[in-house]
Amino acid sequence: MFEKKEAAVQLTAGLLNYIEEWKAKDGNLIMILHQVQEEYGYVPREVALQLSRMLNVPLARIYGVITFYHFFRASKPGKHTIAVCLGTACYLKGGEDILKELEVNLGVGVGGTTDDGQFSLESVRCLGCCGLSPVMTVDGEVYGTLKKEKLPDILAKYRVK
Ligand code: FES
Repeated sequence: MFEKKEAAVQLTAGLLNYIEEWKAKDGNLIMILHQVQEEYGYVPREVALQLSRMLNVPLARIYGVITFYHFFRASKPGKHTIAVCLGTACYLKGGEDILKELEVNLGVGVGGTTDDGQFSLESVRCLGCCGLSPVMTVDGEVYGTLKKEKLPDILAKYRVK
């Protein structure tokens, strides 16, 4: 039976040195995951597996940390990053509905990347423009007073690029 294999990821010498340096210290997992993300832009599964072996930490614990801290990504970032604000003002004005609509439209949840590699979806807490709530950004460009109906046009603008 065909088995999907993880693409081999070679840990860089710099990363190996960093792991060696932090291996026995308190808080090592978070520090090492930060370094991994700095190196790859996310935490590849293959690297998480290697860390599990090297640090003698269960893989479930590594993914527990990755999912608990929104900063960490378990999938490769897409070409465009969508950040939906779920801060209080945006939440009260329907930010969650915007997020749900995007999840359906893109077929990914928060922290995910579409299969075609076009979009990553994130949620954030307050983008600092609460007067425009509900708000989202695409690659840092702000879209305010959002309505679900506007989303297809906004996405189309980035899809063609
Ligand atoms: S709560 Fe969304 S921009 Fe402030």
